[in-house]
Amino acid sequence: MASVKGPSADIKHVFRGTFIHSTHKAPLQILEDSLLGVDAEGKIAFLEEGLKLSHLQQTFGFTPSQITQLSQHEFLMPGLVDTHIHAAQYCYAGTGLDLPLLEWLNTYTFPAESRFKELDFANNVYTKVVKRTLRNGTTTACYFATIHTDASLLLCQITNDLGQRALVGKVCMDRNNSVKHYKETTQESQEESCRFIAELVNKKYPLVKPVVTPRFALSCSGPLLGQLGAIAKNNNLHIQSHISENPAEVNLVKEIFPEADSYAEVYHKYNLLTDKTVMAHGCYLSEKELALFRETGTSLSHCPNSNISLCSGILDVRKVLKHKVKLGLGTDVAGGYSASMLDAVRKALDLSKILTIQDPEYNTLTFEEVFRLATLGGSQALALDDQTGNFEVGKDFDALRVNVAVPGGPIDMVECNGPKIMLEKFLNLGDDRNIVEVFVAGRKVVPFVEPNQAVL
Ligand code: GUN
Ligand code: FE
Repeated sequence: MASVKGPSADIKHVFRGTFIHSTHKAPLQILEDSLLGVDAEGKIAFLEEGLKLSHLQQTFGFTPSQITQLSQHEFLMPGLVDTHIHAAQYCYAGTGLDLPLLEWLNTYTFPAESRFKELDFANNVYTKVVKRTLRNGTTTACYFATIHTDASLLLCQITNDLGQRALVGKVCMDRNNSVKHYKETTQESQEESCRFIAELVNKKYPLVKPVVTPRFALSCSGPLLGQLGAIAKNNNLHIQSHISENPAEVNLVKEIFPEADSYAEVYHKYNLLTDKTVMAHGCYLSEKELALFRETGTSLSHCPNSNISLCSGILDVRKVLKHKVKLGLGTDVAGGYSASMLDAVRKALDLSKILTIQDPEYNTLTFEEVFRLATLGGSQALALDDQTGNFEVGKDFDALRVNVAVPGGPIDMVECNGPKIMLEKFLNLGDDRNIVEVFVAGRKVVPFVEPNQAVL
């Protein structure tokens, strides 16, 4: 009799060592001396105790040579999910942080984004931002591009080629009085959105999806918002935008849309709040608006670096979680100056501590909770949690191999600490030097394989 074969006998790779991830029940689950198998489709086939090795070998039919043993200072964790990043704004990241939101958009953002009409410039910036984020452990990114359809399609191609999971949005805006040529007519915006979606879907990139992207209520007319809501609904697509980031913006929305009861109601009226919508910021959302988010399944992207850098506001994460609104973290480059999700983790913790300084009774976020926001929370916020976010069997293998004691790295390990301390040190002190390998859907995407370097 032939031995019993498992559901997927074609195991491509097995890791043995420490695994750290979040589940719905626990912000931190630590599995020491465990075995994780990745199948030929890049999916997680099993995650079991190391003691079960021979049983797993029999069931799945892999050989000892397929097993990678992690060292004492290493662990595997899920890839980081950046729920809000402007790929084009990477060209001026780290500069121009001296103005509040609306002035910042007019002075720095729109002139910079208008340069993406040139495909050579777009190619250069987009390649750099995708490589930089991948190297820093972002396995999934939700990108804003610019209003230019062809450059936005180029961003899709680059994320596909470099192997990052991504939602990519061609930005829509038919209102902008500051940089005259950086806007579309309502009809152009609608037609080019349809072209972007159709051409991207046609490419059949396995990990790259379109996201309908009205920039925000102030840069879109009511008719355009309505058309974009209809496009998303008719094609069951993701939606992303900004909401309630800064007080001047909130007041202007009230002026321009006097018929709406609130900022959230503006989007709701045009069918833009759905269970595949992610809205960035939300610092000034009322309890009623958060209830509407919960009702519609809309999620929030918390972008702490940006909220500090543009002096926009402080999101009360506890209030959002109390309303059971799905929540992830975003870098919001270039309002946020860092493209690293580790920075977003630190700034989210810092802001929570500032709320505690203001009110000592405040229930400060823990690093375990913020770790969950950066991984599983982000995948839920992007409605991709059936594919990524943690090491549940059946999900894609999106993972970081972290070595906290990598030679020449930023962390000095004085003694041999347990995995929880290793994670805490990595989150607070680590950088891309500690992320020795990055996997997306089972494919090793970091270190990069140069095109002229043959894979043996
Ligand atoms: N609101 C509208 N556009 C933008 C943008 O590009 N960045 C940020 N942070 N907020 C916005
Ligand atoms: Fe943004």
